[in-house]
Amino acid sequence: MKDSGHGVIRLLTGMRDARLVWDTLGFLYNQRIYPLIAGLYESIAEELKVQDGARILEAGAGRGYLSLLLASRNPKARFTGIDFSRMQVRRAERYRLQKKIFNCSFQQNDVQSLPFPEAAFDAAVSVGSIKHWSDSRRGLSELRRVIKPGGCLMIAETNRKTPDDELREFGKRFPVPFVPRGLLFWGLRRVVFGQSLSEDQLADAAGRAGFYPVERRPVTTCPYVMVKAWK
Ligand SMILES: C[S@@+](CC[C@H](N)C(=O)[O-])C[C@H]1O[C@@H](n2cnc3c(N)ncnc32)[C@H](O)[C@@H]1O
Repeated sequence: MKDSGHGVIRLLTGMRDARLVWDTLGFLYNQRIYPLIAGLYESIAEELKVQDGARILEAGAGRGYLSLLLASRNPKARFTGIDFSRMQVRRAERYRLQKKIFNCSFQQNDVQSLPFPEAAFDAAVSVGSIKHWSDSRRGLSELRRVIKPGGCLMIAETNRKTPDDELREFGKRFPVPFVPRGLLFWGLRRVVFGQSLSEDQLADAAGRAGFYPVERRPVTTCPYVMVKAWK
């Protein structure tokens, strides 16, 4: 998935994945991404079909947009969002309190080593996080371990195969202060999307972690790929 590639790209990809960067700069990402991928959150919310009493885990929850959307729509289910960045967890907790949502909680954990017993959750979701995991196979295996037999994982990620013109449009809608547009496009192409996963890679990764069957889901509202996979 990640290229060994050029030294500068390796360095920037390392920064992209660092907990410290999410602690300090996560706030810049959080607010800008929401309007761009709100349609993706919606399609997960529609497809997940959460039952009353269900327990759902979100891995790499960031500011908690998806968990809180799901929690507000399914007041009789319980949601846990984990993120390895302490500051992202704080931001999510603050946002949860603002929205007065009480069937959801956030905690600091690494998806590669989850503190939950086997089969603790009915389903798991994750958006835009797997490309940052140092060992994605271990993260997926951990998610599979904590899902009940028959439960599913819905996982979405930036599409490595996004064409340049689509990525330019996406970049225009994702402004970062003081970063010239050309440089932003280069960063998105080479460091964010270029070091991400294609639909095939995401589906293969889920299959290798033991999920079966693994189904691909079209994403029409943003340049992401999505897979739904069962334990
Ligand atoms: C691109 S953001 C996506 C956040 C959120 N899912 C969203 O849709 O806005 C990636 C998130 O994954 C988290 N993350 C990265 N590696 C992680 C890991 N190993 N375990 C848990 N969270 C991780 C980061 O801290 C960051 O909040």
